[in-house]
Amino acid sequence: MDLQLKNKTAFITGSTAGIGYATARTLANEGASIILNGRTAESVAKAVQKFQEEFPNSTVSGFATDFSKSNEVEELLSKLPEIDILINNVGIYSSGSFFKTADEDWYCQFEINVMSGVRLSKRILPKMLSKDWGRILFVSSECATLVPVDMIPYSMTKAALHAVSRGLAQLTKSSGVTVNTIVPGSTLSEGAERFLENAAEKEGKTKAEVEEAFFTEVRTSSLLQRFAKVEEVANTITYLCSPLSAATNGSAIKVEGGSTGGIL
Ligand SMILES: NC(=O)c1ccc[n+]([C@@H]2O[C@H](COP(=O)([O-])OP(=O)(O)OC[C@H]3O[C@@H](n4cnc5c(N)ncnc54)[C@H](OP(=O)(O)O)[C@@H]3O)[C@@H](O)[C@H]2O)c1
Repeated sequence: MDLQLKNKTAFITGSTAGIGYATARTLANEGASIILNGRTAESVAKAVQKFQEEFPNSTVSGFATDFSKSNEVEELLSKLPEIDILINNVGIYSSGSFFKTADEDWYCQFEINVMSGVRLSKRILPKMLSKDWGRILFVSSECATLVPVDMIPYSMTKAALHAVSRGLAQLTKSSGVTVNTIVPGSTLSEGAERFLENAAEKEGKTKAEVEEAFFTEVRTSSLLQRFAKVEEVANTITYLCSPLSAATNGSAIKVEGGSTGGIL
């Protein structure tokens, strides 16, 4: 299937690693030009170089912007070229007691997870509407509906994204622009891999044993009963970036291995 993404430019936030980098790879495979993002000039330069080695015929560049720093976001907004596809992927989380979580932690997760996409969309959506084509994707999480008790602030930010995304989709009525939300579940990004390795070391188990215990004891609702691969999430994101997905707008598409339940 040709996803018709040649000559499209995609900006993916938080894309030097994980789901973001995997999405850059699948989009580049379809011929899209890629703009990567991470917090530091070093990490972005490294990711751009790695990407160029992997896709020598692709067009790739990068922006070092830390979405917790509003001055850096302002600078990014003033420099971004024309974007056809915006993937609001950046997201951080912390795990801990609700009673011990400081206000700053709530605000920090909100700033990075929600306001990054709000600010970028405010700048980019009007341009997409004026040229009558564009794709905006928000990367949510199964936590938006599962709300693990140790991740209430993170879950709040992900639930908020659904409202922002749906609201923006309503602004695209009768245009060629779509805005959708993707809902991954536990996914084996570098971060998740580190979590498994640390837990294995701490508990004197293998990584496979920790993964199995996570699904039999914690994420029991998962039908997949394993971590999704970053590529499995990236493939769905890439389809939603395609002109072929024009009839999907204002939707939340699950790639969570069935963990959130329900028939919709
Ligand atoms: N992995 C999962 O199990 C899972 C499940 C559900 C939803 N999600 C969501 O999927 C998205 C991607 O998750 P992931 O696990 O792939 O992420 P990850 O591996 O933790 O992502 C790391 C990426 O985010 C960048 N980053 C971190 N903080 C940043 C900041 N303040 N400003 C700019 N970039 C920043 C890092 O860049 P540098 O290190 O280069 O600075 C790196 O490119 C997130 O929104 C996450 O909430 C993940």
